[in-house]
Amino acid sequence: MIRNTDTSWGLVSVLFHWIMAALFLGQFALGWYMQGLKDLLAQYNLYQWHKSFGFTILGLAVLRVLWAVTSRRPKLPDTMPDGEKQLALGTHVVLYLALLLLPLTGWAVVSTSPLPIATWFFGLFVIPSLPLGISMHTEQVWSSIHGFFAYAAMFLAAVHILAAFRHHFHHRDATLIRMLRPGYADRRDNSTDPN
Ligand code: HEM
Ligand code: HEM
Repeated sequence: MIRNTDTSWGLVSVLFHWIMAALFLGQFALGWYMQGLKDLLAQYNLYQWHKSFGFTILGLAVLRVLWAVTSRRPKLPDTMPDGEKQLALGTHVVLYLALLLLPLTGWAVVSTSPLPIATWFFGLFVIPSLPLGISMHTEQVWSSIHGFFAYAAMFLAAVHILAAFRHHFHHRDATLIRMLRPGYADRRDNSTDPN
């Protein structure tokens, strides 16, 4: 079960979801932790990890958006009110945007910094800077935007996670299970199921 159907998520969407959810949460924690470090060598190394994982997220996000727009989306449970369905879809779209815009604004931070520090991709090659004006002020502005987006996206991700648990423990529907098991169809949407 590689592709999505009208009732279930396929393997590709499930892998994209959980790999990127883990990368996003780890990346947030790293960004938050690395800033206050007193040990400058450790801080330099963690910044390089943060940048490398950030570009990994950017590459995966582009592939995932291409996959999402060319795939079917499984329908949400019929029991969900229309307003809630739209809210869920809106949250997913904004989370996609966050996965694209966070790395781009992070890239803008390092591209506008007056400090001549190269951005290595896992120590393999140097990623060029974006063609933006270099100054402490511009760096500060991008840094504030990057930080704000990161905290806003984390807040939305937390709401999203709580909504998934609400579906599972309160409504007891298949929303969470079908994101864990590729090909698992919501039974109430499955017309061959007598229940
Ligand atoms: C999904 C991807 C990313 C997430 C979730 C993320 C998250 C964060 C967070 C939470 C912080 C701390 C902000 C604060 O406390 O003010 C941070 C800082 C930082 N991030 Fe990212 N980041 C991402 C991608 C990137 C990328 C791709 C780069 C660079 C190429 C980058 C460069 C930086 C830098 C230089 C800082 C420290 C300066 C600042 O305050 O902005 N980030 N990031
Ligand atoms: C423990 C953490 C998480 C849980 C339990 C969870 C749960 C779920 C579930 C159950 C769905 C399916 C909703 C449906 O059927 O319509 C979903 C979809 C989605 N989730 Fe999460 N999620 C988590 C973390 C995240 C994070 C951190 C992000 C992004 C930063 C994210 C982004 C998305 C997106 C974009 C979708 C839409 C489906 C797609 O197009 O791939 N999730 N999530």
